[in-house]
Amino acid sequence: MSAIIQIQNVSKTYNNGHQALHSINLDIKKGEILSLLGPNGAGKTTLISIICGLVNKSSGSILIDNFDNTTHYRQAREKIGLVPQELHLGMFDKVWNTLRYSRGLFGKKADDAYLDQLLKDLSLHDKKNEEMRNLSGGMKRRVLIAKALAHQPEILFLDEPTAGVDVELRKDMWQIVDKLRQSGVTIILTTHYIEEAEAIADRVGVINQGKIILLDETKAIMKRLGKKHMHLELQTPLSQLPDTLKALNFEMSEDGASLYYHFKNQKEYANIPKLLKAVTDCDILINELHTSKSSLEDIFVNLVTNEK
Ligand SMILES: Nc1ncnc2c1ncn2[C@@H]1O[C@H](COP(=O)(O)OP(=O)(O)O)[C@@H](O)[C@H]1O
Ligand SMILES: [Mg+2]
Repeated sequence: MSAIIQIQNVSKTYNNGHQALHSINLDIKKGEILSLLGPNGAGKTTLISIICGLVNKSSGSILIDNFDNTTHYRQAREKIGLVPQELHLGMFDKVWNTLRYSRGLFGKKADDAYLDQLLKDLSLHDKKNEEMRNLSGGMKRRVLIAKALAHQPEILFLDEPTAGVDVELRKDMWQIVDKLRQSGVTIILTTHYIEEAEAIADRVGVINQGKIILLDETKAIMKRLGKKHMHLELQTPLSQLPDTLKALNFEMSEDGASLYYHFKNQKEYANIPKLLKAVTDCDILINELHTSKSSLEDIFVNLVTNEK
């Protein structure tokens, strides 16, 4: 698959001297869903803002469908729709006018049927003639999505789309993302939730302190980093780990009060009853069972440890 966005050696130092990006190289494939996963302050918004031409890069180059995003800004920019992290909307503008205006800005012919459908898809149709200031926070976010899509962009950026968003909107959003992907739109979203990246993305780029420290197919990343484990708190500490449990790859904590089991993949979840039976067969009483997945923090610790 060919690259629709080519990012070469892009660095950014803000005016206050803070270097937010360090020589980023990244090819984004046409039609893929790429998730940029990283903690707050990693540089995700900076990178997106630079690609969209809202922030100037300090060095490097960016091609959008082979158009340089500085020398051919217009051609590059019209291919992109951006749903920003922050809400920026004219409070006295009406929903419908905002969409028509946004479409017009990119030089696209008016297409009310398309905009109508967009409003329906986003459950905004009954708000068509409302002023922005009369909408709830969730509704405003829907309008931002509609606005980003008003000119039928080939590439859509969603910056932290689900931060502080209600369940309904989250569901609608993933449906829209799915529909867009089927129509061939390339989607780049940022998140600091692993589950989200895992659920939706074809590839995940892990970004930390202004560097992409890992980029791979989602499945490969999750296999490597998204390990899940089960933790059993025992009623009475064990003096040693029974052989049958050792054979099943259980591990015991140093104080003998906990047993751990690391799942290799999701399919192994089906083995939980069998694993628990093996434990009770050893006359071990369980106080509590916890299952958890590695957090973003764990992933970074893992990455750093693996690099050593
Ligand atoms: N306008 C700015 N001036 C100076 N520093 C900034 C500016 N915008 C962002 N930063 C800094 O750059 C780093 C990356 O920020 P950002 O791209 O917003 O990260 P993320 O979106 O991953 O949370 C942070 O340390 C942030 O404080
Ligand atoms: Mg951000």
